[in-house]
Amino acid sequence: MLDTQQIKDLDAQYVVHTYNRAPFVLERGEGVWLYDTEGKAYLDFVSGIAVNALGHAHPAVVQAIVEQVGRLDHVSNLYHTVPQARLAQMLVEASFADKVFFCNSGTESVEAAIKFARKWARANYGSEKNEFITLSGAFHGRTLGALALTPREHYQEPFRPLMPGAKVATFNDLASVEALMDEHTCAVIVEPLQGEGGVNAATPEFLQGLRDLCDRNGSLLIYDEVQCGLGRTGTLWAHEPSGVTPDIMTLAKPIAGGLPMGCTLMTQAVADTIEPGDHGSTFAANPIAASAAVAVVGIISQPSFLEHVRWCGGYLEAGLLKLQETHDCIQQVRGRGLIWGVECNTAVGPAVNAAAAEGLLVLNAGANVLRLLPPLIIEQEHMDRALTILDQAFGAL
Ligand SMILES: Cc1ncc(COP(=O)(O)O)c(C=O)c1O
Repeated sequence: MLDTQQIKDLDAQYVVHTYNRAPFVLERGEGVWLYDTEGKAYLDFVSGIAVNALGHAHPAVVQAIVEQVGRLDHVSNLYHTVPQARLAQMLVEASFADKVFFCNSGTESVEAAIKFARKWARANYGSEKNEFITLSGAFHGRTLGALALTPREHYQEPFRPLMPGAKVATFNDLASVEALMDEHTCAVIVEPLQGEGGVNAATPEFLQGLRDLCDRNGSLLIYDEVQCGLGRTGTLWAHEPSGVTPDIMTLAKPIAGGLPMGCTLMTQAVADTIEPGDHGSTFAANPIAASAAVAVVGIISQPSFLEHVRWCGGYLEAGLLKLQETHDCIQQVRGRGLIWGVECNTAVGPAVNAAAAEGLLVLNAGANVLRLLPPLIIEQEHMDRALTILDQAFGAL
């Protein structure tokens, strides 16, 4: 049996250093709780960065995975499988979309969106219409296409040249988008609620304005709901309250209960331009991941479940606003459902570490925003405990 230090030593020796990890080793999870190798319990308000929406080891997800792995684990996309077809039906029936493409991660779902948008534009207007408009603060992933749409110097700079034709407008500033849009614009991509960018919601007016601009210009509107989608904001889709639908939407993190999966949803008009061979993936949507996703989507899409998320959101917001009254470092509390950002006047790293020391996992979104992404199954007692620990943790700033 390896002890905590030995595991950390193995990681340091053998895993390439792309992550700065916490100083403990997580071993087990159950519901909203995680346990490290020393037996210490942590209330998980990170959820694998918005992945574990149903918490850890949810019985319905465990059952779906266990039953499926014994029946059919993997076959190529050369063949039909039951879980994939059923999942596609569920996603399409619950959204604006007519068709879905499956992949294995958020960044892959954005790569697929880029390719499908280009194919649509080429089919309708010719190959010169191949550029994208992205927005300040956006995060769309780290593969080279998605990275080109993620306007952060420290992510992009070491890997240039990136995909050409990515222009950056200002989030929630329609005029800045209009100024960049021209006959070469194939699509605009936007997160209805930015997660990594600091928990910033697009206004309904901005989304409607983007829709109108795209329609007038013959461009597609792409929503990236990889982090904010599937119940996180208290509605099934984060864009739902705006009433403005996209042509393409990406999903990933929470969909398969912790197994890797991404989805690119699209209208029939986009799907009509795609042919066999245009895109593909060996693993997606593998029968095991698809079975897990059928269970996850079935639970999250229930109206009573989403109502629970909205109720928790209101409770958490009230508690965070109360903390703002007593902690001068807190500048703003913002979010919806169960994604919240607490913007401070200083770097939040010490508060994140102080919370972990007290048994609460939270994360940052940029240097000054402390982000909360609890499992959507939390209850009042968990929020009370988290708020008590945060009260202490903000004292560290
Ligand atoms: C909005 C958004 N899009 C895309 C991604 C990339 O997802 P992945 O890390 O699964 O590639 C992320 C990851 O944080 C995200 O938040």
